Amino acid sequence: MIPLDKYEKWSILMEKSAKLYLNDKEFEEFTRIPENERDIQLKAILEKPIANFSIVNEVYFRARWGEVLKMLHPEQGLKLLEIASGDADMIPQIMEYTHPNSNYITSNMNKILNENLLNRTNNLSLKVEIIEDDASCIETHIGQGSVDIIAFQHSINDVIQAILCDREGVDTIYSNWMETLPKMIQILQKEISQNTLEQHAKIPFLGLIKSLLNVLKKDGMIVMNHYMFQLDIDWGYPQDLFKDMVPMTREWIKELVGCKEIFFDDFNPNWWIFLRKI
Ligand SMILES: C[S@@+](CC[C@H](N)C(=O)[O-])C[C@H]1O[C@@H](n2cnc3c(N)ncnc32)[C@H](O)[C@@H]1O
Repeated sequence: MIPLDKYEKWSILMEKSAKLYLNDKEFEEFTRIPENERDIQLKAILEKPIANFSIVNEVYFRARWGEVLKMLHPEQGLKLLEIASGDADMIPQIMEYTHPNSNYITSNMNKILNENLLNRTNNLSLKVEIIEDDASCIETHIGQGSVDIIAFQHSINDVIQAILCDREGVDTIYSNWMETLPKMIQILQKEISQNTLEQHAKIPFLGLIKSLLNVLKKDGMIVMNHYMFQLDIDWGYPQDLFKDMVPMTREWIKELVGCKEIFFDDFNPNWWIFLRKI
């Protein structure tokens, strides 16, 4: 697997990042993990499909997104829109430290995951807004040219899966996402074996990105990252698709006008896309 990131860099930064970006209770949990065990966990996160979940994952992903947000928006007063966050809260958690008193908005269709996200973020001072609608309708909810950054935190796959489920009449709004995942994987297997994924998913995906470009400020950025989960692979997620999600998306996005891809040295293009609105 192409590593997500540089182990040597993050092994040094972990303790400092944990102090910066965890609350007291979380930091205590971090310190209970022996240092060599933290290093083993970190190396596995960066170099293998993710199979374990501990506070070490939180530290790495918060700190990595913290770097992104500070690099793209060094000033305060950030308005960030996340697409398909589910109940993953690393972006609002890190914004609490890097951009306090800012606005975090997420466009997220699944009711159960929205409830969980609300519970996870209700103690933050950040202004959190959940838009329970398809991100392709975002313009009806927030003004044109109003957000600084749009983030796809491990959600290219989720957006594509929801597009395909919608075609097949499989509910992703009221259902339990994890219970629906085997069905999603079956649909993906069929799309790959029949070579129809691009035909069925590309146009709605690019339509969604076009709507997002409208709500982004000029020079604003769309940031996408991806990584693999071992569970999806074990359940039969087409492996080439999972590992090449970002290169495939990059090829699709090349057809769009109105944005330009920017490359940053420290971000592996197999796992990251940065698009500037032009
Ligand atoms: C598994 S969760 C996402 C997890 C998260 N991105 C992560 O860190 O892995 C899937 C979420 O994607 C949302 N989703 C998929 N397509 C969407 C779309 N077009 N607009 C809004 N939400 C969408 C679903 O409603 C669901 O809440």
